[in-house]
Amino acid sequence: MSLLSAGLDDYLHSILPPRDEVLARMEADAACRGIPIVGPAVGRLLAQVTRLAGARRVFELGSAIGYSTIWLARAVGPDGRVFYTDGSEENAAEARENLSRAGVAERVTVLVGDALTALDGTDGEFDLIFNDVDKEGYPDVLRRALPRLRVGGLLVTDNVLWGGALRLPPCEDDAETAAIREFNRLCYANPDLETTIVPLRDGVSVARRIR
Ligand SMILES: C[S@@+](CC[C@H](N)C(=O)[O-])C[C@H]1O[C@@H](n2cnc3c(N)ncnc32)[C@H](O)[C@@H]1O
Repeated sequence: MSLLSAGLDDYLHSILPPRDEVLARMEADAACRGIPIVGPAVGRLLAQVTRLAGARRVFELGSAIGYSTIWLARAVGPDGRVFYTDGSEENAAEARENLSRAGVAERVTVLVGDALTALDGTDGEFDLIFNDVDKEGYPDVLRRALPRLRVGGLLVTDNVLWGGALRLPPCEDDAETAAIREFNRLCYANPDLETTIVPLRDGVSVARRIR
């Protein structure tokens, strides 16, 4: 799924370096089974902002089969830690195998259950929090995740343009669209955050906690 025109999206994918066998197989598998992973262009962005922020401690909200987790775990390096969360035990079992195949299992803590409850139950500050949970939860994610970021840390959120539904003038928003619209408004209005939406794939926002 991409908001970019087909030709432009094809072009962006054509210039991406090939992924290793683990990620490539997960991409094919996700496409086949309809699993909504971020894909390689956003995966690369996640890894890049993780490295730019010098992030070592990362919390991921909504990890599915661990595709984005692998990009994050590789970017934090061998001394870093990524917390994986998903509500599905089946997803977590598959993710454990994928993380192991990718050689990053030792730097990932797998937590099964509600992602924000898992965040509340995990001590310490984070350098980066990646948000990819159910969209209706996005305003709550902002409220609960922001205090857990160190100053200078990043809240990165997927699907913030939601298939093009975030338009002006707004149509009748469904609950998911309304929640994302509110999340984006709150991010941009918050003086503690410096936020930019990158219109890559389905829209990714990068919000830096500045105080
Ligand atoms: C879009 S998928 C995540 C994809 C993953 N970030 C990737 O790109 O590889 C969203 C996942 O979040 C999980 N999820 C959604 N809301 C959740 C919540 N509140 N707590 C825990 N998991 C949640 C779903 O089970 C689903 O697997």
